[in-house]
Amino acid sequence: MKTALITGASNGIGLALAKVHASKGDNLVLVARNKSKLDEIKLEFEKNYKILVYVIGIDLSIKNAAQLVYDETTRNNIQIDYLINNAGFGDYGMFCETNWDKESQMIDLNITALTNFTKLYLKDMIKRKQGKIMNVASTAAFQSGPLMAVYFATKAYVLSFSEAVDSEVRAFGISVTALCPGATESGFKENAAMGESKLFKSKSIPSSQHVAEFGYKAMMKDKTVAIHGLMNLIMVHAIRFTPRALVVKITRSLLNK
Ligand SMILES: NC(=O)c1ccc[n+]([C@@H]2O[C@H](COP(=O)([O-])OP(=O)(O)OC[C@H]3O[C@@H](n4cnc5c(N)ncnc54)[C@H](OP(=O)(O)O)[C@@H]3O)[C@@H](O)[C@H]2O)c1
Repeated sequence: MKTALITGASNGIGLALAKVHASKGDNLVLVARNKSKLDEIKLEFEKNYKILVYVIGIDLSIKNAAQLVYDETTRNNIQIDYLINNAGFGDYGMFCETNWDKESQMIDLNITALTNFTKLYLKDMIKRKQGKIMNVASTAAFQSGPLMAVYFATKAYVLSFSEAVDSEVRAFGISVTALCPGATESGFKENAAMGESKLFKSKSIPSSQHVAEFGYKAMMKDKTVAIHGLMNLIMVHAIRFTPRALVVKITRSLLNK
């Protein structure tokens, strides 16, 4: 039996990924701040899927958060076969006006925790010559994002970092997949204070479950970059042939209210 560790598993894409793994019979380590929500999920999943679920309630934006989680799983002899760095959030507004504390926490979560988690669990995976990592990036990773400048930059980091590490670890039988969803139904829009941004106005916004199933399949096939949705795929390829200044203009108009 394999075990998946999923960060940000109390809601949205992370919770949906937990459901996908549970339905495949994988044990779970679920990490997020809302411990009581994780406890509810544990009860439900252990009953419905006959698996073991271990929950860790922690704010992953604090210093050494990934190390604390790693130490806890190691102490409990839990081997992680799938590491899913999903926890993340955004913020909306002019950079000169947005809140630094929120942005600083975003960098600590979206970048620092994800990087440290990858380093810690990767070492054990390399020793075993077995394991898969999924880092949840975004279609935001492919261009800069006026009105969400810091968020887009964090996701560009996640994509760049994931592709590079994937190339390094393939020889050891390990893969790193950067999952790149576009706008998806979850708590993201509210947490990013995106209000009436045009980005979420489309009628065909996919569910977190849809994105999670796509991401799971991509990780199991050892895909390096997995862009969800045909329109997103076309857009990402079109960006490569479009002048950068024009791409920034178009992105801004999409993010506008
Ligand atoms: N939804 C979209 O449109 C979209 C598009 C592209 C990429 N993404 C990415 O998908 C990932 C998942 O987001 P989502 O859309 O599922 O949003 P969501 O519904 O808001 O879920 C975010 C998850 O992250 C956890 N989290 C937030 N801050 C945390 C912290 N400081 N420490 C630990 N856990 C924390 C939350 O749990 P707690 O509140 O319990 O801590 C929650 O489980 C993110 O990396 C996001 O950037 C989302």
